[in-house]
Amino acid sequence: MRFILLLFLTFTSIFAETSYEKGKYLYISNACYACHGHKLEGIHRYPHLANRAKGYMSYKLKHFREHKADTQQQEMMIDFTLGLSDDDIDDLTTYFRDYIDVEIAESYDDSYETHGDGGS
Ligand code: HEC
Repeated sequence: MRFILLLFLTFTSIFAETSYEKGKYLYISNACYACHGHKLEGIHRYPHLANRAKGYMSYKLKHFREHKADTQQQEMMIDFTLGLSDDDIDDLTTYFRDYIDVEIAESYDDSYETHGDGGS
């Protein structure tokens, strides 16, 4: 399992070209998912990050990076932001804003015709 994860990380780092892909790579390699979830859905009291405003998310991350937290709970985030560059934050917040759950996206069958005679 660890080998597969490593392989996956190497693979994504080589092909991490778009800001979205780079953000995804950073999200996984920094273990952000441990608290915010694999689908950015949030866990318990840890907030969800999927499809949230890029400006606000990057404001928060830079705020934490400057050792600023408004609550005790937020202090937890400081350590996770110290190693992030401005570019990293840009990529991460693009990933959050544009996040698409691939499994859900693939489960929609848009070939299905919704119009008809209503079965009457
Ligand atoms: C140990 C758990 C933990 C990890 C790991 C973690 N976070 Fe957080 N994160 C938190 C907590 C706690 C908050 C603050 C929630 C609150 O405001 O009460 C937070 C808040 C945030 C916010 C602000 C959300 C908001 O609604 O204001 C962002 C953005 C964020 N985290 C991104 C990240 C990124 C990116 C990583 C990885 C580099 C990461 N987090 C890793 C626990 C974690």
